[in-house]
Amino acid sequence: MIGTLLGAYLSILSAAFAAPTAEPCTRDFLKTQAAKYVAAQVAGTLGELATSSVTYTQDFKPATLGTGLLAKPLKIDFNRSTYDTTQCATYTEVIAASSTPPYVLGTQMRFTDGVLSKMETIATTTGDWLFNPSGTLKYSQQEAWTEIPEDKRDTRAVIQAAGDAYLDLFNDKTVKVPWGNPCARLEGGSYIQPSCNVGVPSGLKMTNRRYVVDEVLGTVDIFFTFGGQEPDSHQFRVENGKLRYVHTLTVMKSKST
Ligand SMILES: *[C@@H]1O[C@H](CO)[C@@H](O)[C@H](O)[C@H]1NC(C)=O
Repeated sequence: MIGTLLGAYLSILSAAFAAPTAEPCTRDFLKTQAAKYVAAQVAGTLGELATSSVTYTQDFKPATLGTGLLAKPLKIDFNRSTYDTTQCATYTEVIAASSTPPYVLGTQMRFTDGVLSKMETIATTTGDWLFNPSGTLKYSQQEAWTEIPEDKRDTRAVIQAAGDAYLDLFNDKTVKVPWGNPCARLEGGSYIQPSCNVGVPSGLKMTNRRYVVDEVLGTVDIFFTFGGQEPDSHQFRVENGKLRYVHTLTVMKSKST
């Protein structure tokens, strides 16, 4: 008797406290959010993107949305976003080559229950590693980052592992990287092709990695700390399990600007 009552009581409790069914995070939702972000950066106001209480970092340092880079209107020449419906996150590359100063930005956004909860921006500008915004613009916009046909898509694990292998190579020359042939690396504004396996230094650990993976576009963007020092983004486009494009953004901590 007591057991039955207790059971009934518990089942009422658990019904009352059951988590509301989480909205599935759709690609369309993420596309809308990324477009809002680009619009906010053009306008220099948050607009519909978020309230200013979101956790926000700029070059991996805590910052305030209402007074940081997002509050500065930018003329944007090119932007490209990727969408991670599993983690409910986006990554956007923004090229503002003709603004003063010029910027190339990488932004990761993360959503919880349909609301922006975390936003991180890496802002490269004059003085950063190989910064050349007209080069970035020229090469980035000529690349085809089209949706990969369903039967040719790699899994999240394969895509992420390709990016991780590339970053692990900096510290371990025995790592097998799935190099594509051709492969092109847009490093700052320099274009290195047809092999990406050149000029990779050694003895450097790439730590604190945060990922945005998009199986439809075959991409992973990784934010990490380069050699324990510089805020960095490496974005990889993977085709048939192999690296096709690499885009890098590295903020030089020593820059004087
Ligand atoms: C951002 O990219 C989208 C998709 O290519 C494009 O439609 C939009 O006009 C771009 N926005 C700006 C401000 O350039």
